[in-house]
Amino acid sequence: MVSALFDLTGKVALVIGAAAGGLGAAAARGLFDHGATVALADLETQQGLLAETARACGGALRHTVDVTSEASVRALADSVAAAHGGIDVVVNAAGVMLRKEVEHTSLAEFEHVVRVNLTGTWLVGREFGPRLAAAGGGRIVNLTTVYAERVGPVPESAYYASKAGIVNVTRSLAAELGHSGVNVNALAPAVFYPTAMTAPLAETPDRLTWFEQRTMLGRLGDPAADLAGPVVFLASAASAYVTGQVLYADGGWSAW
Ligand SMILES: NC(=O)c1ccc[n+]([C@@H]2O[C@H](COP(=O)([O-])OP(=O)(O)OC[C@H]3O[C@@H](n4cnc5c(N)ncnc54)[C@H](O)[C@@H]3O)[C@@H](O)[C@H]2O)c1
Repeated sequence: MVSALFDLTGKVALVIGAAAGGLGAAAARGLFDHGATVALADLETQQGLLAETARACGGALRHTVDVTSEASVRALADSVAAAHGGIDVVVNAAGVMLRKEVEHTSLAEFEHVVRVNLTGTWLVGREFGPRLAAAGGGRIVNLTTVYAERVGPVPESAYYASKAGIVNVTRSLAAELGHSGVNVNALAPAVFYPTAMTAPLAETPDRLTWFEQRTMLGRLGDPAADLAGPVVFLASAASAYVTGQVLYADGGWSAW
């Protein structure tokens, strides 16, 4: 029995960056388990893995999108509207990471990370925000990171910069759309392991141990167990009066 506060029955939730094995897929599964009809989107190259997520979510419809393209994001909004007739929740989990020292990072690499993570988040908000507002309200959840307002020991300047930017894109959209009933929040995970993004950490076990010890709970985030709760909270009536916020799902990392 799902409490009414967390019940998403009758809601359509789009998850962008939902290929199997990632946090988007975990978010989709959580939303589906709480009653939502889920729509899934990812890059063309990820459609095989997206099909796996779709199977776990009751045969959810799949869409192709590249969040760096204005036309592609607009086409996604049109096709989700055509397929489902409307949309209530958008979770933006598309993202890329670059582990490289500043001096070895090219301008093209920096701009690509910013384009996917920050510009992509802005494009999704610009496209879907007004549509949610016109329909009477809704939710946008943007995936940032525990490094949203700090940096970590690994050199990732493009990633840190882009993820910090997501926080103020989130607040800006929340401010502009709040009167229309659209809540916009950011979700900030610490290290959730493994996903395609974090799997390479297996090559540096000492670093994984350091990440575990960096949390108050003494463990890494489990994508299958620890993400659905915060996502469902931000997508549901339980967070009706929460907007413009960063919710840290980080085992206490940011509270030390
Ligand atoms: N796993 C973690 O520890 C962690 C921690 C903090 C934040 N995050 C954030 O969570 C989100 C998901 O990360 P993940 O760990 O699941 O990694 P992941 O690589 O498994 O997922 C990222 C997804 O984004 C998609 N994507 C990349 N570029 C895209 C584009 N241009 N258009 C559309 N989709 C695109 C990828 O295909 C992939 O499915 C990311 O934004 C990441 O920064 C992850």
